[in-house]
Formats: sequence, C-alpha cells, structure tokens
Amino acid sequence: MTIHIGAEPGQIAETVLMPGDPLRAEWAANTFLDDAKCVNRVRGMLGFTGTYKGNPVTIHGSGMGMPSLSIYANELIRDYGAKTLIRIGSCGGMQDMVGIRDVILAMTASTLSTPSRGIFRELNFAPCADYGLLRSAADAASARGITHHVGGIYSSDVFYDERPDLNEQMMRHGILGVEMEAAELYILAARYGVRALAVLTVSDHLVTHEALPSEDRERSFGEMVEIALEAAFP
Ligand code: ADE
Repeated sequence: MTIHIGAEPGQIAETVLMPGDPLRAEWAANTFLDDAKCVNRVRGMLGFTGTYKGNPVTIHGSGMGMPSLSIYANELIRDYGAKTLIRIGSCGGMQDMVGIRDVILAMTASTLSTPSRGIFRELNFAPCADYGLLRSAADAASARGITHHVGGIYSSDVFYDERPDLNEQMMRHGILGVEMEAAELYILAARYGVRALAVLTVSDHLVTHEALPSEDRERSFGEMVEIALEAAFP
C-alpha cells in the first residue's frame, strides 16, 4: 500500500490505463476486462485490475490536472512497477481540421508548468510519447476507421483560462488540442524509463465552440479504451 493507493503488492498490472474520472475506470474495467477486481478505493480514486486477451491490465483514475495525475503515476511506477501508462481522456480541439469526437494521439505535450518545473527551471524539456505505443495506437485507430490525428497537444494548468493568449499561441503553432494531464505523465515516464501515451477524444472545441453531446461521450470513451488496449497489446 502507498499513501494514495490501497492495492496490495502484485495487485497492479504492468500496463495501466488512466482515465481522469474514477467512475470511467470502473465502467471501462467492467466493459473491457475479464475478471476485473477493485484494487483501490482510497479517496474514491478507483482502480481495477483484470485481464485483456489474457494480459493483466489495471485501469486506475488519475483525477484532474497534473498535480493529481503526478501522485498516482508516481506511486504506480515507483511502488507498484507500472511499465506502460496510457492516459485516456478528453481534450478541447484547437484546429479547424480537428473535429468533435475525433481522437488525438498526443505525440508531444507542451506546457507552461508541471509539478516537475522545479527540476527543469529555465530548461524547456520536450515531453513526448513512446513511439511504439503511438504507432500501435495509430494502427488500431486506422483499423477501426476512427478519425484520428497525431501531433502536439497543450497540457494546461487551468480549465477556466484567464489568459486566452496562451491558447491562441498554441493554435498558431499547430497544437491540436488542450487538456490538463499528459505533459506530466510523459515527463514521469521519461524520468523512470517507462512507456507513456495519451489518447484523447475531442469533447469541446475552442475554435467552433461545439461540445460533444453527453450521449456520445460513452461511445467515444469506449473507442479510446479499445485503442489504448490494442496499443498496449498489438
Ligand atoms: N479537457 C477537455 N476540454 C478541455 C479544455 N477545453 N481545456 C482544458 N482541458 C480540457
């Protein structure tokens, strides 16, 4: 057990999918895994371990924002030996050619600040995805006919942004979408020599101001889980 995860040693798989929402972790585990068992309930941050095509998989909530994700990813990697971590979540679209419901596979994650800022200080570290996972995820999305984009995203610290000029600069530089977790996940993966990827559905759009209707969210989330599982076990 760690400070934030109640699982016993051996109850967390080497492959971990991380949705922000713990209830989505429960839904995904019950829908896609065989023999899913709850392994964490501390602070309501649910985690489940089961198997996918015979391979052990944990689906564990990350919470919202990089400080929350950092706590869970640190403990999953350092204390439980997680080796492949795939964020599955939503993002705001930032380019015209990126539509609502499309999937973005985040090749890089630019950010203003992360919990790791204290290490890098004036250095601009470039957080990036694991290439093998990224390639397998793109193949899985293509095989399912899911419209997807591979490129850079922006990991913001705020949802309600008082500095729209930052989003504008990101759009001007070709960034596909904005979310709040991937950059720290990529930095931790680099630090500990493990693999990471963020698979994101566009749930709202900063250019067109559309939003994904709630009835579509479950279907889109299911597609992300499938892409993530196939990327981990191609
Ligand atoms: N996650 C989903 N949509 C978002 C947005 N517009 N900004 C930040 N995070 C998001």
